[in-house]
Amino acid sequence: MNKKKFSIVIAGGGSTFTPGIVLMLLDHLERFPIRQIKFYDNNEERQKQIADACAILLKEKASDIQFMATTDPKTAFTDVDFVMAHIRVGLYAMRELDEKIPLKYGVIGQETCGPGGIAYGMRSIGGVLEILDYMEKYSPDAWMLNYSNPAAIVAEATRKLRPHSKIINICDMPVGIEERMARAIGLTSRKEMVVRYYGLNHFGWWTDIRDLEGNDLMPQIKAHVAQHGYSLPEEIAESQHMDASWMHTFAKAKEIYNIDPTTLPNTYLKYYFYPQDEVATANPDYTRANEVMAGRERHVFGECHAITKRGSSLGTTLEIDEHASYIVDLARAIAYNTHERMLLIVQNKGAIVNFDDTAMVEVPCIVGANGPEPLTQGEIPRFQKGLMEQQVAVEKLVVEAWVEGSYQKLWQALTLSKIVPNARVAKQILDELIAVNLDFWPELN
Ligand code: NAD
Ligand code: G6P
Ligand code: MN
Repeated sequence: MNKKKFSIVIAGGGSTFTPGIVLMLLDHLERFPIRQIKFYDNNEERQKQIADACAILLKEKASDIQFMATTDPKTAFTDVDFVMAHIRVGLYAMRELDEKIPLKYGVIGQETCGPGGIAYGMRSIGGVLEILDYMEKYSPDAWMLNYSNPAAIVAEATRKLRPHSKIINICDMPVGIEERMARAIGLTSRKEMVVRYYGLNHFGWWTDIRDLEGNDLMPQIKAHVAQHGYSLPEEIAESQHMDASWMHTFAKAKEIYNIDPTTLPNTYLKYYFYPQDEVATANPDYTRANEVMAGRERHVFGECHAITKRGSSLGTTLEIDEHASYIVDLARAIAYNTHERMLLIVQNKGAIVNFDDTAMVEVPCIVGANGPEPLTQGEIPRFQKGLMEQQVAVEKLVVEAWVEGSYQKLWQALTLSKIVPNARVAKQILDELIAVNLDFWPELN
């Protein structure tokens, strides 16, 4: 059979993840044939550094694939089947401020959680909507697979403001944790497990994990987590979560698990359950943004420069981001109607029976040609329900604040965030965040 070949655009072509994703796409061409890859970014200079090297990689490994990098929306979004979006509005310089400003007040500064996540959400909403609108204008049949953060806030914004758009929001944290669970009990891949899970993005719990024959794997996994969290005796080579700070996070899962041993937790819950621990170990002058700039960003751009200079990728340390192959699984599910079961961020609509129908939740879905169909997860316990109601209200208030330009609602969002101690501190942090985000946020009144 002569399979259709797809045309994709990577939005945020200058991302640190782009080369790893391109190498991953090239490694999966038999499963997902590609005729054209385009890069789109609003930062020409940053994108060019990645694109020049990727042009060489593509020429070496799949010279029949057409390639271009552009900052022109019409050129980028015309004739595409999928938009793979990973933008970071404000770049690492703004992530650094998201992390450092709250820390000045003894509050966690984090990419997607608390005040930092709220600040990033206020920047991201406009950028993601703009890309979605370009896609709909120039390739109305295409799908946008979005993993730009903060995914919870971005997903709520697209639900509210573009309710009929073909956008699917997805996160790789459950994928990464499931890979660890599988290794912890001697399986070779997470694909040997079928899971039930519910929550919000970066805020959820596994309730059931079985092998493909239906045998319950929870007892074995729980025994491991009770002792080691998601740490493994032998680390897996998975470039996305390898730094010491991630190792610390995986170990910390043990303490999160103890709070409710009937479930297995997402690692991000550490920020909500043990905020003081995180603040105590944080260095206010050197946060995760600094670590990534000195680590992943420097490595990826350095390798790209070297490839471009040599005109060859021989000996490069850039690696296939196999971890990101969930993106191909998602694209395939839509393109080939595979009915793959995947955790996605979708509108609740009863999937969690005793929870807000309009909330964007993370649950298993069956994905086919017409998108995701969420699987019902039943009723959730009071503990999780209480936590999720508070957090979803934060996310909804941020989107309302963005739409209405409401200072009051954004202050309420920060005040409601579980990791902010009181309304006064919320206001102090907010006022500093406003001052540095003037170029990115709508004006607030
Ligand atoms: P990065 O800063 O290296 O790359 C982001 C790129 O987006 C930059 O080149 C930037 O110029 C571009 N960009 C910014 N605003 C834009 C706009 N409005 N239009 C077009 N391009 C724009 O960031 P990174 O560390 O590689 O991360 C990229 C994104 O992927 C982040 O949002 C990150 O949080 C997200 N991410 C999400 C997951 C997940 O689980 N969902 C996993 C990994 C990374
Ligand atoms: C996980 C999360 C992503 C987040 C990333 C941060 O993969 O699911 O949403 O962006 O971690 O990683 P970093 O290495 O940039 O701190
Ligand atoms: Mn994520």
